[in-house]
Amino acid sequence: MYNLSSSVSWKKLEQLADQTRHEQISDYFSADKKRFDKMSLSLGELFLDYSKNKISDEVFASLLQLAEHSPLRQRRAQMFSGDIIKVTEKRPVLHTALRNRSEEPLLVNGQDVMPDIQAGLKKLEAFSNKVRDGKWLGYTGKRIRSVVNIGIGGSDLGPNMVCRSLLHYKHPEMSFHFISNVDGQHIKKALKSLDPETTLFIVSTKTFSTQETLLNANSAKRWFLEKTGASAADLGLHFVAVSTNKAAAMEFGINPDCIFEFWAWVGGRYSLWSSIGLPIALCIGYDQFVELLEGAYEMDRHFLEAPLDQNMPVILALIGIWYINFLGAETQAVIPYDQALHQFPAFLQQLDMESNGKSVDMEGQPVDYATGPIVWGQTGSNGQHAFFQLLHQGTRFVPIDFIASLQTDEEAEQHHFALLTNMLAQANAFMNGDITDGQQDYTSSPGNRPSNILLLDRLSPRNVGALIALYEHKVFVQGAIWNINSFDQWGVQLGKRLATEISRNIERKSADYDQSTQGLMSIVKKHLNKTKKAQ
Ligand code: F6P
Repeated sequence: MYNLSSSVSWKKLEQLADQTRHEQISDYFSADKKRFDKMSLSLGELFLDYSKNKISDEVFASLLQLAEHSPLRQRRAQMFSGDIIKVTEKRPVLHTALRNRSEEPLLVNGQDVMPDIQAGLKKLEAFSNKVRDGKWLGYTGKRIRSVVNIGIGGSDLGPNMVCRSLLHYKHPEMSFHFISNVDGQHIKKALKSLDPETTLFIVSTKTFSTQETLLNANSAKRWFLEKTGASAADLGLHFVAVSTNKAAAMEFGINPDCIFEFWAWVGGRYSLWSSIGLPIALCIGYDQFVELLEGAYEMDRHFLEAPLDQNMPVILALIGIWYINFLGAETQAVIPYDQALHQFPAFLQQLDMESNGKSVDMEGQPVDYATGPIVWGQTGSNGQHAFFQLLHQGTRFVPIDFIASLQTDEEAEQHHFALLTNMLAQANAFMNGDITDGQQDYTSSPGNRPSNILLLDRLSPRNVGALIALYEHKVFVQGAIWNINSFDQWGVQLGKRLATEISRNIERKSADYDQSTQGLMSIVKKHLNKTKKAQ
C-alpha cells in the first residue's frame, strides 16, 4: 500500500528540510564549481537551469528516491498506453495520442484510436487551408477575415494562449478573437468590430452544455441573423463547432460537416492538440500546427525515455514538491520574460490547479499532505514594477519559474537585450539578495529565494509545443507522486449547479439559502426589476 507521508524518503526529506532552512543557495555554488553544469539540461531548443534552487545534492537524491518509490513509473506507462487512469469517469487519458507522430497503434477498449485521430487532423487541415486560402466563402461570397472562438476553460485558454504566443505566424489578412466570459461586455466588445459577412464563429465546447459558451453562442447567432437577415443555411457558412457532442451541435444549427469532433478521453485542459486547436490551425496554418504537435511529441518521448535524474518534467515536479511539501510554499510564480507569453500563466492556472487542486487520494481517502499550489504570474519586466517587491522583501516563500526566448525580431534587439538582462538580474537578486555583514534593514533584500530559468532558442510552434507538454507532464508527475486523480474536476460542478438554481429562484424568497445569499439575491432582484422598468 503506497503511503507517501510515511515513506522512508518522505521522512528523510523532512529531516533535510530542517537542515536546509538555514543553508544559502549561494553557498552551494561556492562548494561546487560544477553546480551550473550539473543542474542544467537541454532538450531540443529548450534549456533548463535549475541550479538556483534550495536543493543540495543530498536533497536531490532523496527527491529522486521519492519518485522511484511512488506510482510514477506505472502511472506514466498506463497513461501513454491508454489504460483507464481517469478512474472516476472510467476513461483513459490520451492527449499524448493526439500528437503521437509514430506509426504505433494506440488501443482504447481494444480499438486503435490513431485512424480517427489522423482523420480528425485531415479534416482540420482541409478546412483551415480552405479558409486561409480564401476558398471558404461567407453567404455573400466574401472570404473569411475574422475568426471568433467561443469557448471557456480548456476550450479557450489553450488555443487563445498558443495563438497569442505565435502571432508572429498569424495569417496577415485575418484577425482572431476569443470570447469566453458570460459577461455580456465580452461578446459585445468583440462583435462591435466585426463584419458578419466575413466572420467565422467556432463554438468550442467539449460537452456542448457549458452555460457561458451556449449563452455566448446564441447571442452570436442572434447578432448574425439580425445583422444580415440571412437564412439558417447561410448560418452554416459562418458557424462551425468543436465538440464531442455532435447531436447538440446539430441542434444548435451547425451543419454536420462543420462539426469537428474529438473524444471523451481528451481532458478539456489537455485538448488544444485536438480539434479544439482549430483556431490555432486557422491562425498559424496547419503545417505550423503540426510543428506544435511535434514539439510536444519530442517532450513526450523525453518524458518517457529519459532517466528520472535527467528528465525535465520530473525535475520540475520534484523541485515543486520539495518547496510545497517540505519548505512550505503555497504558490508557484510563473513569470515569462516574453510579452507573447503573457497568457501562459493563465493557461497554467487551469492546467495545474484544475488537475492537482485535489484533497482526496486515488483510494478515496483524504490526503495528509499539501497538493497542487496556487499558480500565478505576469510577464516580466512588468512584474518588477508590480509585485516583485513582495518577492524580494516580503515574508512569503515563493518559488519562481522564469521563461524567455533568446531570439527576437531584428528591430527589437535592444529591447530584447534589456528584457533578458533584467531577467538574469532578477534571478540573481532573488538568490543573493544584498544583505551586507548580516545586517538586514528596510533597504535590504534577504535573498536565498529560488528560481528556475527556462530558455527557448526562439518562440516557435515546435518550442511552444514542447513547453506546454513539459508543464503537462510536470503536473502529471506531481499528481502521480501525490497519488491523486489529476484528470477529473468534480469541484467545479457544485458552483455550476447552484448558479442554475439561484437564477431560477431569484424571483422568490427562498429559505434554502443562508442570510447573505438571500440578502444578495434580493438586491440583485431589485436591481433587475429596476432595469426592466427603465427599458
Ligand atoms: O471548468 C470546468 C470545465 O469542465 C473545464 O474542465 C473545461 O475545460 C471547461 O469547463 C469547458 O468545458 P466545455 O469544453 O465542455 O465547454
